[in-house]
Amino acid sequence: MMMMMMMRAGYSNSSSSSSNGVVVIIFVLIVLLKSPSTLGNGNLFEELELTWGGHRAKILDGGKLLTLSLDTISGSGFTSKRQYLFGRIDMQLKLVAGNSAGTVTAYYLSSEGGNHDEIDFEFLGNVSGEPYIVHTNVYTQGKGEREQQFYLWFDPTKNFHTYSIVWNPHNIIFMVDNTPIRVFNNEERRGVPFPNKQPMKLYSSLWNADQWATRGGLVKTDWSKAPFKAYYRNFNVANACVASPSSPPCTAKSFANASVPRGLDPRGRRRLRWVQKYYMIYNYCNDLKRFPQGLPRECRFTKF
Ligand SMILES: *[C@@H]1O[C@H](CO)[C@@H](O)[C@H](O)[C@H]1NC(C)=O
Repeated sequence: MMMMMMMRAGYSNSSSSSSNGVVVIIFVLIVLLKSPSTLGNGNLFEELELTWGGHRAKILDGGKLLTLSLDTISGSGFTSKRQYLFGRIDMQLKLVAGNSAGTVTAYYLSSEGGNHDEIDFEFLGNVSGEPYIVHTNVYTQGKGEREQQFYLWFDPTKNFHTYSIVWNPHNIIFMVDNTPIRVFNNEERRGVPFPNKQPMKLYSSLWNADQWATRGGLVKTDWSKAPFKAYYRNFNVANACVASPSSPPCTAKSFANASVPRGLDPRGRRRLRWVQKYYMIYNYCNDLKRFPQGLPRECRFTKF
């Protein structure tokens, strides 16, 4: 398409104004034809697949809204239809309101098969008025144990907020409303595996984990409040590389997208320090008791 336009444009320079009209029409066509490939911005029917929980998972409003629910019988979940390898993936979530103790809303990228890679957000519910915990983790080649946990600076059940995974060959950045809360750097050259070869799908589910989720399992789910509901909208994968047999492979060498930042700018670093100072409640890199043999390797190189 691009080629055609350039050829046309070249031709029109030395020709009549009627061929300018052709150029305009071709340009309009390009714009129109391009939109389906960036549909990630809107239509959830196109991008997502309901996988678990039957009628408890629903796509509504012509593909603009997705809801998951959890009752005494089952939770529910969805996955992305496509797989990604690097990119920025945004979605807006509104979490279970009221007494959500014991519920977990998981939202993560994961590869399939053994030695899998995974980039996790999990939202642990609480009794009314008490704070949710945002639990994060990174698995590389089947190994996790890299948890960091945070409170939020707002009530995540009142409105939609944007949760983003920025995944590029240099680092993984977890963001909440564009504020970075965690950065996992690529320290491959120092012997820490980094997820950069296995494509991942997005997964999300709402389920019950009252054995551990709220105050370590002390607070159980109040089933009289069921069904519990979480809401999703504005899934945006326009800036992700889609891994598919029909498109060029996504590789660390070839991946470049101006909308996917490589690391943080000064403002991002300030925001990250602010979150870590006031909202981080657990960091595996500070948990000497848990790792008596020594902290995981990457903790030694963490700059933030
Ligand atoms: C729930 O609230 C309690 C009390 O404020 C707090 O200790 C806990 O971290 C909160 N979050 C979860 C998921 O347990």
